[in-house]
Amino acid sequence: MTYDEAKSVLEKNGQGHVLQFWKQLSAKEREALLAQVETIDFKELKRCAAILAGGGAAAAKKGKPTAPKVAQLRGAPLKKAVAAGEKELAAGRVGVLLVAGGQGSRLGYDGPKGAYSIGPVTGASLFHFHARKILALSVRYKAAIPFYVMTSKANYDATVDHFEENDYFGLDPKNVVFFRQGMWPGMTADGKIILDAPGHVFMSPDGHGGMISALKANGCFKDMKARGVKTLFYFQVDNPMVEVADPAFIGLHTLEKSEYSLKLCAKRDPYEGLGMVVKRDGHFDMIEYTEMTEEMNTRRTKTGDLYFKFGSPAIHVFDRAFLEREASKAMPLHLAHKKIATVDASGKTVKPAEPNGYKFEKFIFDALADAKGVSCLAFDRADEFSPVKNAEGKDSPATCRADLQAKWRRQLLKAGVQVPEALPLEVDPAYAIDAAEVAKTGLLLRAN
Ligand code: UD1
Repeated sequence: MTYDEAKSVLEKNGQGHVLQFWKQLSAKEREALLAQVETIDFKELKRCAAILAGGGAAAAKKGKPTAPKVAQLRGAPLKKAVAAGEKELAAGRVGVLLVAGGQGSRLGYDGPKGAYSIGPVTGASLFHFHARKILALSVRYKAAIPFYVMTSKANYDATVDHFEENDYFGLDPKNVVFFRQGMWPGMTADGKIILDAPGHVFMSPDGHGGMISALKANGCFKDMKARGVKTLFYFQVDNPMVEVADPAFIGLHTLEKSEYSLKLCAKRDPYEGLGMVVKRDGHFDMIEYTEMTEEMNTRRTKTGDLYFKFGSPAIHVFDRAFLEREASKAMPLHLAHKKIATVDASGKTVKPAEPNGYKFEKFIFDALADAKGVSCLAFDRADEFSPVKNAEGKDSPATCRADLQAKWRRQLLKAGVQVPEALPLEVDPAYAIDAAEVAKTGLLLRAN
């Protein structure tokens, strides 16, 4: 993009101030600024400005939220779902999507969150646990399972380096596809793009919902089609206990001919920070925990159970065709009021004491409203969910390592092997991916 082109598009969109320090920029800074302007989607920016002009409040949604039906698979229905899922896996029709745009900053870790060390014995990273499960499944089902890893612009290189340094954790690099999510400029309340340096626009990642447009922009849908992938397992980087591409979940999704399926677990307490899937006005919707009312959080059924009992750990299955369809739609935008460094009239960068600008994000679960079929499956959180979110306390590395080890201890105990609490324990998923395989290992240990 040339200076004249940038000037024209910026002025047309009321953002001419972005080039106000042009004269004082070096050649390199000018080039970088033009490159940034080129990435801005001005159509989307107009939507952001319109939301701000309307006071920033999201439009009220129609219909009273009710709790959805949640399947609890056991016995014959479980067997049927597993068989259906295994068929998809063996046919090579399943791919895995990981949203890993987040940084480890909340954990005091300066790098991609996925590279954070969580293995209780080896110190292996979160990525290690995810990738080794995919490896185990592709060996078991004798089929490639392509792994699509979404990074932010900031952590792309560090993520690829981490995979390279670890030999892709045993995966064939041809089956690992990294792609960057989009970035959006921060804006002031009056809809103006924020510069955080004279030659630099403040930009932030566009949220995990940005995955859909990023899959399209990076040619991933084409790649999936070429590989024959029809069903996509989706998860977040912070949960090393996730059962990646669980056959029962994939199977339920395919048997029910759903477009969007969700795994849900009983909330730890009424206020746990989990999104809540609801039905309203004839379709599904997710209510973020920050938007749950006191009445919704504490409402009970006649038997004393929480009415809105099942929270979403963000473990989903999608039809590829559904995501492709969604890619042509404008997703809702969520805004966050933040302190954003900005430049004063002289071009000096100043750090505000109070929130002064807005960041915009898209959320993947907003696609729920458009899904033609939605299935919800309950799971036992003790076996599959222990996210690493905070440096200390609940959902921290310490609780996650304890939960991982407790799970492996339970599985080994089933084979009669008691591992003392004091002994650190770790199982490589590529060696034993589920309870049956861990139990087999336990029997081997006993035999020796
Ligand atoms: C999220 C969900 C919440 C769910 C909970 C389960 C949102 C708004 N809320 O909360 O409904 O119950 O997890 O643990 O998502 N990411 C990107 N790019 C981005 C932003 C996020 O790739 O621009 C990725 C992160 O790397 C992470 C995931 O999305 O893997 C979730 O982001 P995070 O900010 O950790 O969400 P939570 O607030 O913990």
